[in-house]
Amino acid sequence: MKLNSPLKGAVCACVMYSLTSFGLANNTFAQTPKIIKVSTDQSIAKVQPNMWGVFFEDINFGADGGIYAELIKNRSFEFAKPLMGWSIQRQKPREGEILVVNRKEVNTANPRYLQVKKETDDFELVNEGFKGIGVKKGLRYDFSVMYRQAAKGVKLVLLLKDANNKIIGQGSLNPEQTGEGWNKQSASFVATETDPKAKFSLLFQGQGNIDLDMISLFPGDTWKNRPQGLRADMVQWLADMKPGFIRFPGGCIVEGTDLANRYQWKKTIGPIENRQLIMNRWNTEFAHRAAPDYYQSFGLGFFEYFQLAEDIGSEALPILNCGMACQFNSAEVAALDELDPYVQDALDLIEFANGDVTTKWGKMRADLGHPKPFNLKMMGVGNENWGPQYLERVAIFTKAIKDKYPDFKLINSSGTDPEGDRFNLLNTTLRGNNADFIDEHYYRPADWFLKNAGRYDNYPRNGSKVFVGEYAVHAAGNITGSNKNNWQSALASASLMTGLERNADVVQMASYAPLFAHIDAWQWAPDMIWVDNLKSYGTPDYYVQKLFSTNKGTDVIAITLGDKNITGQDGLYASAVTDKGKKELIIKIANNSDQPQNIDFNLDGKLKLKSKGTSEELANANLNQINSFDNPLAVSPQSKTVFLKGKNLNLTLKPYSFNVIKLPFN
Ligand code: AHR
Repeated sequence: MKLNSPLKGAVCACVMYSLTSFGLANNTFAQTPKIIKVSTDQSIAKVQPNMWGVFFEDINFGADGGIYAELIKNRSFEFAKPLMGWSIQRQKPREGEILVVNRKEVNTANPRYLQVKKETDDFELVNEGFKGIGVKKGLRYDFSVMYRQAAKGVKLVLLLKDANNKIIGQGSLNPEQTGEGWNKQSASFVATETDPKAKFSLLFQGQGNIDLDMISLFPGDTWKNRPQGLRADMVQWLADMKPGFIRFPGGCIVEGTDLANRYQWKKTIGPIENRQLIMNRWNTEFAHRAAPDYYQSFGLGFFEYFQLAEDIGSEALPILNCGMACQFNSAEVAALDELDPYVQDALDLIEFANGDVTTKWGKMRADLGHPKPFNLKMMGVGNENWGPQYLERVAIFTKAIKDKYPDFKLINSSGTDPEGDRFNLLNTTLRGNNADFIDEHYYRPADWFLKNAGRYDNYPRNGSKVFVGEYAVHAAGNITGSNKNNWQSALASASLMTGLERNADVVQMASYAPLFAHIDAWQWAPDMIWVDNLKSYGTPDYYVQKLFSTNKGTDVIAITLGDKNITGQDGLYASAVTDKGKKELIIKIANNSDQPQNIDFNLDGKLKLKSKGTSEELANANLNQINSFDNPLAVSPQSKTVFLKGKNLNLTLKPYSFNVIKLPFN
């Protein structure tokens, strides 16, 4: 869909933005109403129901130590340092009392366990949790452990303690079963105080020998109260966005630093004690943000991802390794004649998600508790892979998958950047091959986002569609961490997103990235939602994303200023849709200038609009404003009623504001 030359709009955007950013704009913006024309009854493109989604990766302790609610770090002693996160506390050390035993010949997925020889004096095994353990007063905590003992004798006392070793929760477990096999037993108890940085202690009493593995503690308030499930507050942020899709499991963790370290979905399903832990590739990626205790336990595995997508009403969008490891790290590739296992993983995943329960992988899904198919429609082949080596491999995947599932949609990579030789090679070749979707990623400064609001106005309307699979404004300057998610970044994102929406016939899906970050354990910023061990807040970016995804509409309509798309004139960026189901006309407009702007929206056409509507406004005069644990709603939507006069709506947009105006019609 092309309305006007985006080039003109972009030049205009650039000039006006620099005027306003140098403080040269004057009050004429506010005084003389600008006429913005909205052609209310002419649909110029359809909006896909799953247009706005979320990108999930286990980065910044997003899964382990984050949404996966397990509170014990290194529960099965499989970290490179087997006792990382654990300490033994006793009066007099006794040699051989606790051993980490490796049985890798008989159990490759979970080789290590703890052998305890308990004699007379009691001692404690303490786990520090992921940057501490978040404990809530009055909440139930569910402990479980796998054990093996020839005879009864050892009793476990379960203690939550604060930094001063005060007990703030206590339970006990008497291992009941004896014999040669492993058993699982659980016990629950209630915490007596709230503490964001508690620790967990196993106090050994009695006498005897016992082997322990999978020492686990979960809060009792997981999402949907699923045992050993997800952190409810974190899932709720996603559910509230009503995302059209959830892309998982990444990101770079799909690729791995090398092929051995890649994400393999088949190793992430079934009993958790059989899911082979690997090092998280973000463990070592950034020297300045090293995370030696970052591993992937896969407690949040592919079955749970599908279940999460279903819970929050999103399409599942898995991304699979294409036989290539991260090209910034090892750049290791699987030989072309050894690509079969990778391709087979993709085919089997489709069967796992959609296959009849009589098929091998469909039966596996049913055995895991979900006989009904997940109705998977698409997957990504490769993450940020590039070059001829990618093209060769994606061609093999495409043939195999399309031969068996002709209607299944595949997402292809366009590399790490939205321009340059690598992008051009992939974009041109993949379009030539009629790829279903091309995945574009951009992490760029605010200025780039503003200049690119018209990026898709000139894209080909037919053939391959665009999936903007990862994007975020990276604020310039020396700021790091959660203050990168400032209002300027979110406002520039909103501005560009009007360009995605205007071109919804071309850009059919988009997701901000990354999604979650732990305030004490992040590697990458900005991120949409920040958490600590107990709390979480949405950044200004979160509210921008939510405003788009909950107001996506069904049909794009034209909105113009002087007959041109609004791509930066006087700092304005706009798009408009109608929602034929909800019967709403929805205008999204960003004011990137430091001046108020008085607008007459001329609502042209046959649509019978009611005389009053609402406007959800995000605004802040300070572009550096952030949300935080102390001030989580500093930039958050404020709702007000707006009134039409006939076919005109007059509004004054605040400086640095983003408005979503909703006008009901009959
Ligand atoms: O979103 C963070 C990282 O950015 C992703 O893992 C990767 O795909 C991109 O480079």
